[in-house]
Amino acid sequence: MSDPSTNRPDLDDNTNVITDATAANRENHMFTEGAEPISLWVILGGALIVLVAGGVIGNSFFDFDHFVRKDYVRASAPGAASASTQPKAALDAHMKAGQKAYTACAGCHQPGGEGNASYPPLANSEWVTGPSLRPAMIILNGLHESITVNGKPYNGNMPSMGSGMDAKQLAGVLNFIRNSFGNKSEMLVSLEMAQNALDLSKERNGGQMTANELDADYKKDIEGTPLDPQTMVDPKTLLPVAAAE
Ligand code: HEC
Repeated sequence: MSDPSTNRPDLDDNTNVITDATAANRENHMFTEGAEPISLWVILGGALIVLVAGGVIGNSFFDFDHFVRKDYVRASAPGAASASTQPKAALDAHMKAGQKAYTACAGCHQPGGEGNASYPPLANSEWVTGPSLRPAMIILNGLHESITVNGKPYNGNMPSMGSGMDAKQLAGVLNFIRNSFGNKSEMLVSLEMAQNALDLSKERNGGQMTANELDADYKKDIEGTPLDPQTMVDPKTLLPVAAAE
């Protein structure tokens, strides 16, 4: 500072750069106008607004209904639905249904129908390929006491497999064992026949069958019209469909 009274330069007047700079450093920075940092509250407030607005807009403008036609019903791929209901030859359809039902028998009679020391074979068995009522009654009621299969005596115990079995399953498994393991039958057991066998078995209302009873009372075909293996049927219901024009 200069002393105004003497108007002479104050030789003590000096500037300590370091002290001044330290003092300036302690002060808040000065920012160029327009480039000041934004308050944290403004940022958080803005984020909250975006969040809420996003939810509101998302809910009201972008929901699923805005992108599909009104009353739109999703259709399955072309040909997908009809393929499973396409009519099939009766033999194929029955074999497919029967193969499924046969899994309940395979544990004893073996997957290939060859049987073993305790369980008689279904392959080449007269009880299977002969008149259709005997195997139907065996399946529905079970079998015990002695029986000769392919010239070999067995004296085992087969439980009834009929519980919960409907005409479709019975026809399927009968046609399956009569057309597998090298067996072949000219005509198939129809659903009508299978239902008749179910009714007959119910009337009997007894325990397991024996070979003697089967031969005495049931050595015949099941009543009803047999099914030609080439008839076209609905693979789901196994019922014949009208031939396509
Ligand atoms: C728990 C074992 C067992 C199961 C499961 C079983 N069977 Fe049998 N099955 C036998 C036995 C044992 C005999 C012989 C009974 C006897 O000696 O009197 C037999 C006999 C038969 C016979 C007559 C004899 C022959 O070999 O031709 C037929 C047909 C038959 N079973 C079909 C079936 C079918 C079809 C199923 C499935 C729906 C089935 N069985 C499930 C044990 C079984």
